[in-house]
Amino acid sequence: METISSPADLRGRVRPALQAGKTIGFVPTMGALHEGHASLIRRARTENDLLVVSVFVNPAQFGPTEDLDRYPRDVPRDTALCEREKVDLLFLPRVADIYPPGFDTFVAPGRAAEGLCGASRPDLFRGAATVVLKLFNIVSPTRAYFGEKDYQQLAVIRQMATDLDLDVEIVPCPTVREADGLAMSSRKALLSPGGREAAAVLSRALREIARTRANGERRVSALRERGLAVLGAEPAFTPEYLEIRDAGTLDPIETCDRPAVALVAGRIGSVRLIDNVRLPCD
Ligand code: PAJ
Repeated sequence: METISSPADLRGRVRPALQAGKTIGFVPTMGALHEGHASLIRRARTENDLLVVSVFVNPAQFGPTEDLDRYPRDVPRDTALCEREKVDLLFLPRVADIYPPGFDTFVAPGRAAEGLCGASRPDLFRGAATVVLKLFNIVSPTRAYFGEKDYQQLAVIRQMATDLDLDVEIVPCPTVREADGLAMSSRKALLSPGGREAAAVLSRALREIARTRANGERRVSALRERGLAVLGAEPAFTPEYLEIRDAGTLDPIETCDRPAVALVAGRIGSVRLIDNVRLPCD
């Protein structure tokens, strides 16, 4: 594996592979890599000739009061994981490589970025879409892999790829969970032991909604109530939203008469966590 920090060097390493007609797999991350990231990397490894992983904690997707400074960072561990997973190129740009002085252009995502996480984190999807587009332009991937754990982000990136004619296949990958159901996340490292236990409430609430839905309940209001009751029983958790939306457009719905998704976000102490589950229609 080669570790590269300069965008020009990365481009130079990818170019011969492209010219030889090879496929490039790409997994963009913010590091503190865990099994969720590893599952994307493994899938990309099996489907492409050359595999590029980026680790870049993107300041543009953090608001002024958010946790950019304490976002977990562990480059030696990330490097070891990438070596183990047979990554070819690990791209580790510095902030000035991605946002040099004078940088002044951003992607403005539309409806997909409104509401849900976009309501409380107005910079999140503008920043994420911008850095993903820049990374795509540097890496020239054939396929790029994104986790369904960040369901709204996946919707924003898909919409951007369609709207801006990006020549890349966006590959969605299922959420990887801990034994108690918690969706793996880099921010989990910031939880206290008690907080870690309480964090299972997100997936518990989603499972309750999925179970109620599987038993025939289609009314979104009734499904939400069941989920909110589970969340309300965990005093350490402060809910931000619990919504049930159209699985494709993320539009609000009143009845589950089409494929839907239940999405939850909230805080344990100051640590923000999100999760979601698909609700198939019968
Ligand atoms: P990050 O949170 O590091 O996630 C990188 C990728 O891993 C995302 O596509 C995310 O959905 C996926 N992922 C995270 N946890 C997962 C889990 N438990 N199961 C499956 N996939 C999981 O998302 C970002 O970084 C950034 O916004 C980024 C796209 C890199 C742009 O800065």
